[in-house]
Amino acid sequence: MKAELLLDKYAKISKVDPRIYGSFIEHLGRAVYDGIYQPNHPHADKDGFNVEVIDLVKKLNVPIIRYPGGNFVSGFNWEDSVGPKDKRPRRLDLAWQSIETNQFGLHEFEKWTKKVNSSTMMAVNMGTRGIDAARHLVEYCNFPKGTAYSDWRRKNGAEEPFKIKTWCVGNEMDGPWQIGHKTAQEYGRAANETSKAMKLVDGSIETIVCGSSALDMPTFGSWESTVLDESYENVDYLSLHRYYGNPENDTPNYLAKGKDLDEFISGVISICDSIKARKHSTKQINLSLDEWNVWYHSKEHDAKNKPWQIAPHLLEDIYNFEDALLVGSLLITILKHADRVKIACLAQLVNVIAPIMTNEEGEAWAQSIFYPFMQVSNYGRGTVLTPIQRSETYSSKDFIDVPYLDSIAVINDDENVMTVFALNRSLDEPIDFHINAGDYEFAELKDATQFAGYGMKETNEDGKMKIIANNNVSVSDNGADVKLMPASWNTIRINLK
Ligand code: AHR
Repeated sequence: MKAELLLDKYAKISKVDPRIYGSFIEHLGRAVYDGIYQPNHPHADKDGFNVEVIDLVKKLNVPIIRYPGGNFVSGFNWEDSVGPKDKRPRRLDLAWQSIETNQFGLHEFEKWTKKVNSSTMMAVNMGTRGIDAARHLVEYCNFPKGTAYSDWRRKNGAEEPFKIKTWCVGNEMDGPWQIGHKTAQEYGRAANETSKAMKLVDGSIETIVCGSSALDMPTFGSWESTVLDESYENVDYLSLHRYYGNPENDTPNYLAKGKDLDEFISGVISICDSIKARKHSTKQINLSLDEWNVWYHSKEHDAKNKPWQIAPHLLEDIYNFEDALLVGSLLITILKHADRVKIACLAQLVNVIAPIMTNEEGEAWAQSIFYPFMQVSNYGRGTVLTPIQRSETYSSKDFIDVPYLDSIAVINDDENVMTVFALNRSLDEPIDFHINAGDYEFAELKDATQFAGYGMKETNEDGKMKIIANNNVSVSDNGADVKLMPASWNTIRINLK
């Protein structure tokens, strides 16, 4: 089958905000303890951080990491997690029915994010707490010195403020499972006042107000409208969360789920803009897709979890090849909305629905989804072009007109390089893929790679998966031809003249 992507230099979507390649670490399962923090592990550094994990996270090049939750944050007292470790209390973590030892907290996370060349996106507790705890946390983290909370931070070893810029005002407050779940009206008002107070402490911060935890929430739409009605002028971003799975084992339908994400994002943008119009506001609210990923493999195991353990094995999805293809497609979908999605967090980063896994003694390892994420995060920086593409389509259980080709181009002006990410959704036919250079002039191929040839259910537990070179590429001044294997993820990088 043949398919084409036309590059139109006048059809630019937006410059990419690198924060769309963010991720997430929650105090959940083995994300922190036995994950990023393993003081007794043979590969731990002097701070107790697993150095192999640090190296793998650096490869993913994540500029921002959401912390400390997630559902966990809605019952979290941040004060428990600072100061001398032997004075920190053990607490019940009600969200995940676990024991939280608080041996890893705010200062440790700040130190760790620096080691992985990233930064913190902090969430505050809007479940059991609210405005007072939130303003004190901003003061603790960001105020230079001379006040109770800033001096407490200094006493705890951080002379310089953490300067955390991006803050989530709670987590999934629309969900009945959330501790302190609220109606849209209750949450909207509380979020408005909390965000206002946080910004009074530090006027340079940006805040994210909670939108819907999923597109299929019964309150989707009305939740966003009410919350934004209450908080529009005091917040900067609206969140959305979305997870996917293939429990019915229908791969063509599964690989089309980028269409669902596309609809969700478009719907949320429309809601933001309708409130903007209704309020006669000049301010635009952008989106923070601060939880997205595949999550379903571990659900059966987790239903049998024994409560009140420290760092239990929870949400440890082992990802297969088709999950990696979907993750690639979801990244393309996020890029298609680069004008409005300014933050996105792959949820999560280590052990918990994660691209990186650890075990008690051995080496940390990369899951299948690690590879497309690494490529898009590293090469998908610059300006995104509107994907004008021609491709045959198919229909599946939930979707019609699904193009076999899912592709997008990003132009990196600093390096004068064009990168195309392309997924072939066909399980049995290759695609003769033509990249039409349009007004661009191609110089030569920089590199072309493919992630292909694996069974849909194959995982990377044996560490054998790799991205390999695609030698089936020819480049001329005005275009390139690339063979895309059936069910493949492809990255093509071309130097521009
Ligand atoms: O990422 C796992 C959980 O999913 C988070 O704690 C919660 O916010 C969401 O429901």
